[in-house]
Amino acid sequence: MYWASPITNHQSQITNMQLLDGKYVSEKLKGEIAIEAAKILKRTGRKPHLVAVLVGHDGGSETYVASKMRNCEAVGFKSSLVRYESTVTEEELLAKVIELNADADIDGIIVQLPLPKHIDPDKVTECIDYRKDVDGFHPINLGRMQRNLPSFIPATPYGITLMLKEYNIETSGKHCVVVGRSNIVGSPMSILMARNTYPGNCTVTLCHSRTPDIKSFTLDADILIVAIGKKNFITADMVKPGAVVIDVGMNREVSTATKSGFKLYGDVDFENVAPISSYITPVPGGVGLMTIIGLLKNTLASANKEVYR
Ligand code: GUN
Repeated sequence: MYWASPITNHQSQITNMQLLDGKYVSEKLKGEIAIEAAKILKRTGRKPHLVAVLVGHDGGSETYVASKMRNCEAVGFKSSLVRYESTVTEEELLAKVIELNADADIDGIIVQLPLPKHIDPDKVTECIDYRKDVDGFHPINLGRMQRNLPSFIPATPYGITLMLKEYNIETSGKHCVVVGRSNIVGSPMSILMARNTYPGNCTVTLCHSRTPDIKSFTLDADILIVAIGKKNFITADMVKPGAVVIDVGMNREVSTATKSGFKLYGDVDFENVAPISSYITPVPGGVGLMTIIGLLKNTLASANKEVYR
């Protein structure tokens, strides 16, 4: 177990808050994934293979896809990147997905979102063979997930469940408040936390842009999961003392202080929320690293034919 150093808030109140350390957990799980990948290589002579399709040059997408490719190689997977300019037509992109679906050497396909406005992301998602949909975005995987059947689970929610498991965080009977209803995080997260399994068995509230008085809900959360994409949206006055706080925010701002030229901010005011929480994820170093683990585990499961024969 990892214990964070105590954090002090403006009133110098020292708490027993524990950091949910994405770096520590992700490194540990990558070690386990690498062992499984080596077994596959020994047994079959081939590595699990993930293909990422990247359209355009969005800075965030470039960074995330590069990290996905790097982490695949680090655990002994094969990774391939298919790139298109943002002028690619929907037809061309769909033709490429159909080609990748048919390639027996490929275990997992992801098309990085967002896509340019002239391409319908739902069409692309549904075109990916659900048996290679390691993003877990295909309606078949989402439906199977909701029914608690074997499926690929969207990487960020999956990574969050792995983090909760690693720290043995009790979820049964708790009030879990999810802020944000995106297809990628908030919506699948709310389904996972309500399922009759661990982590799960929560009473779930899903807050979104039309929720009046979000604070009245977040203040009642035992587990607060925030994926709204607004820097410091959750302030200390919105959090119940002792809550578990999961920050999915990845808000990039230009900065001269970092090597990359960007600094990442979460959706939670970490400095002031950390002292009143029981557990909290930092940004960076929290959920982002666990998302990669979710993707790697789905790709491994696909290569092992654990989800679909
Ligand atoms: N864009 C932001 N997160 C994701 C993700 O998990 N998968 C894909 N394909 N695109 C994303």
